[in-house]
Amino acid sequence: MNILVVGGAGYIGSHIVKQLTDSNHKVIVLDNLQTGHAEAVTKPATFIKGNVKDKALLRELFSKTSFDVVFHFAANSSVEESMEDPLLYFDNNVSGLIALLEVMNEFAVKTIIFSSTAAVYGDTSEEIITEDTETTPKNPYGESKRMMEKIIQWCHTAYDIKYVVLRYFNVAGADLAGVIGEDHHPETHLIPIVLEVPLGKRNFITIFGDDYDTKDGTTVRDYVHVVDLATAHLLAMDYLLAGNDSTIFNVGSSTGFSTLEIIQSVEKYTQQKIPVKYGSRREGDPHSLIASSKKIKEVLGWEPLYTDLDSIIDSAWKWHTSHPNGYKNEQ
Ligand code: UFG
Repeated sequence: MNILVVGGAGYIGSHIVKQLTDSNHKVIVLDNLQTGHAEAVTKPATFIKGNVKDKALLRELFSKTSFDVVFHFAANSSVEESMEDPLLYFDNNVSGLIALLEVMNEFAVKTIIFSSTAAVYGDTSEEIITEDTETTPKNPYGESKRMMEKIIQWCHTAYDIKYVVLRYFNVAGADLAGVIGEDHHPETHLIPIVLEVPLGKRNFITIFGDDYDTKDGTTVRDYVHVVDLATAHLLAMDYLLAGNDSTIFNVGSSTGFSTLEIIQSVEKYTQQKIPVKYGSRREGDPHSLIASSKKIKEVLGWEPLYTDLDSIIDSAWKWHTSHPNGYKNEQ
């Protein structure tokens, strides 16, 4: 297959690119490197630096290669940042997708796999979230993704664009070969931040709120290994190309861990004490997000391999210890 991966130099996109090329697909990555890294695009994928909003560039790419499928990852994705600068999120995320869909339509490329998020659900009273759970985003990031999902769905109705929307829960870990991993500046995600203590880069962790209505008062999240998430994308592509109906899937482990439990697991894994301070709640944070992944297991036959927290922490630890400066200084 000829595949365009928009945002394929980022943490999640790069893991999907690697699995696609490992499966012998021909992959072109378009990424503006705002948060991604050219070094994260593993060979033989082709990397092109550019912005998804640049329709002239998109037209050039689409006229040179007849794409079978487009994967969309190019988005700002920090809950915290989106609370401070919502217009950045609506502009980049939503208008970038519109440009891509316009050009896809012009060139009659009608298949898209879209990277969405559990942040579309917001605060829900349902302990286990299914794809039918009401979407009430609690932050502009989640709202922008919900808008993008809706845009894709209307393009399905109007132009017969076929889609799979994957709503990721909390993605963590790194590729097992140790070549690619997570490298954000600044890092805001819990697991890499906690690992910074035993790595000697940070002295303590601030837990954002201890008075949530959860098992220990700290927020609860569902952590899914990035390698299992990548596998879900390949299954979603095969599903669409086999002529199946466009749809939405949650991708999570169906287990909730509190922020405190994550810290304790890293302490146990690294055998090092992680000092904790309690801070105020972070604006825009839902109290708990746990996926039902029943649908993706039943319909796509997705079988995650790395379901325990230790394998997530182990792969992340290997990446961070072998790449103390992330991709910096790499060829
Ligand atoms: N947390 C802390 N201290 C920190 C960092 C995080 O207490 O220093 C807490 C957060 O408040 C949150 C939990 O740890 O409750 C996880 O935080 P992350 O920043 O790792 O992840 P989020 O749940 O905020 O968001 C992530 C992705 C989003 C995605 C969402 C889906 O960043 O893009 O998961 O659940 F939408």
